Amino acid sequence: MELPPPIEQPNVFPLSWEAKTAKLDEIWASAQKEYWDPARLPWDGLRPEQMSAAEREAVAYWFSLLSVFDASAPPVFATALVRAYEIHEEDPVRRAFFSITRDEQNHEIVCGKAISVLTPGGPLGYEPESELGRRAKRNVEWLYHNGARYWNGYKKAVPRYSMAVLFSSFLMGEVASSTLFHYMYTHTTIPVFKEAFRAIGRDEGRHMAICLSLMERDYPKISDEDRAIVTKQIRAGYVFLSGVLFEPPSDFWDLPEDFIATQREIEEVARAAGLGVATYDEKLENWRRAMLNVKGVLERYDIPFPAIPEVGISGEEVTDVNWDEIIPVF
Ligand SMILES: [Fe+2]
Ligand SMILES: [Fe+2]
Repeated sequence: MELPPPIEQPNVFPLSWEAKTAKLDEIWASAQKEYWDPARLPWDGLRPEQMSAAEREAVAYWFSLLSVFDASAPPVFATALVRAYEIHEEDPVRRAFFSITRDEQNHEIVCGKAISVLTPGGPLGYEPESELGRRAKRNVEWLYHNGARYWNGYKKAVPRYSMAVLFSSFLMGEVASSTLFHYMYTHTTIPVFKEAFRAIGRDEGRHMAICLSLMERDYPKISDEDRAIVTKQIRAGYVFLSGVLFEPPSDFWDLPEDFIATQREIEEVARAAGLGVATYDEKLENWRRAMLNVKGVLERYDIPFPAIPEVGISGEEVTDVNWDEIIPVF
């Protein structure tokens, strides 16, 4: 019986269906049960003709901002999914990544649908009617410029890091997004968005549970080298995700000087239109609390938390983040 030559790794072959982390099977079962269809949300209640041009354009802008994170998530997690197969992660981990990818596709659909209903052809193929809308469109171009830089860095980084490192960065994003959607669910007055934020927030909570289970599996035996990388990536996560959770810091974000002022103006209009977007102070507080949650998790495993003076959290000074290689996700 002649055997074939050994398979060169990394490769998705040979296949196996090992299962070690039972908790992930439970989470998979909830993901199957809680799956939802964005097409069934009450989109008919969203009435662009009852809104001013600036209101439509402001709300659509916010979804464009969200899309930088939530609509890049399907390819981001699909990349992680492929990686999980190639390094022969256990079957429940592969399914966890698959379920996150599938959920994020729904979140992307919501972004796209909101933008298309409010600003057909938007964001970039839409001709703004208000002066604010024109400036919003310019801001979106800058957001996409930065999103593209992030994607290039992410692609480079994924094959270089262990699952343990990837999951701590993923946790940041999931904590951030659960916080964001919970807040918006309780504050929006637009029924279709209330429904959407509720469903998305529930998904993000599940994603967070996936990260915590994986950390529970891997962190008791994490290497010192990985510990240091985690601290750095948490700082990178703070900076990147501040783009949607708070305000984009210049450490990573390459933006024109009036970008933030314009975004504040747009969000003011979106808030008045009932979107449920937090004020500056509320964002600061939400973000700070989310960071403290992550800090609590890392402390369980003796991993130093980075200093985040922007939201008043002390910790290890991190100065040498390589902005070409960041892996936080949403
Ligand atoms: Fe998401
Ligand atoms: Fe997520």
